[in-house]
Amino acid sequence: MIIAVDGPTASGKGTIARALAAHFGLPHLDTGLLYRAVGKQTVLNGGNPDDPLDAARAVDFPDSLLDDPDLRSETSGALASRVSVHKEVRAALLERQRAFAAQPGGAVLDGRDIGTVIAPDADVKLFVTASVAARADRRYAESLSRGHEVTLEDIRADLAARDERDRNRAEAPLVEAVDAILLDNSDLDANASVAESIRLVEEAL
Ligand code: C5P
Repeated sequence: MIIAVDGPTASGKGTIARALAAHFGLPHLDTGLLYRAVGKQTVLNGGNPDDPLDAARAVDFPDSLLDDPDLRSETSGALASRVSVHKEVRAALLERQRAFAAQPGGAVLDGRDIGTVIAPDADVKLFVTASVAARADRRYAESLSRGHEVTLEDIRADLAARDERDRNRAEAPLVEAVDAILLDNSDLDANASVAESIRLVEEAL
C-alpha cells in the first residue's frame, strides 16, 4: 500500500504522514529532507543553489547529513526550494524516492509531487493544505520552540515566496493530483488533523 501525502509548506503534511505510517505500520520518507540536504550540500561545496550544475553536484550528499538538525531551519527550507526547481536535481532524486515507494509492504511518502510524479499509482493520495495565515502561525510557533530567531512577518514572506516558487516552477510543480483527497486543516489542531487523515485514508481503501 502506497500513501502519497502532498501539500504546501507548513500544511502539517509531515505530521500527518508520520502518523499514517505509524497507524498502518509502514515506513515513511520525508522527501523534503532530501531537497533540504541538496540545498545545504550545495552551499557546503561553495556552490550557488540557483545554478543547476552546482545543485546537481550536491545530490551526492552523505547520508549522515539527513540527521543534521539544521536541515529543519527556515534557511534550509528556502535553499531546498531553490535547488528543487532544477530538473537535474529532481531527476537525480527520483529513483531514490521510487525505490522507497516500491518496498514490498508499501510506504508513506510526503512532499510536493508524490501523487503526481513519484507514485502516480499510489493507493491513496492526500493533498493537505491550510490558509497562509494558519500555516504561518504554526511555522512561527515551531521555529520559536526550536530556538530559531524569526519574526512572523519573515515567516509569512518566506511562505508566500516558497508557495509561489513551488507552484509555478516548470518541473513537477506543487499541484493537487486529480485523484487526490483534499484535507484543508486550517481550523483543525494537529490531533484532529491526524484523526481526520486516518479516517479519510480508511474510507478510501
Ligand atoms: O517539505 P519541505 O518544506 O521540507 O520541502 C522543502 C522544499 O523542498 C519545498 O519548498 C520544495 O521546494 C522542495 N520539495 C520538492 N519536492 C518534494 C519535496 C520538497 O520540490 N517532493
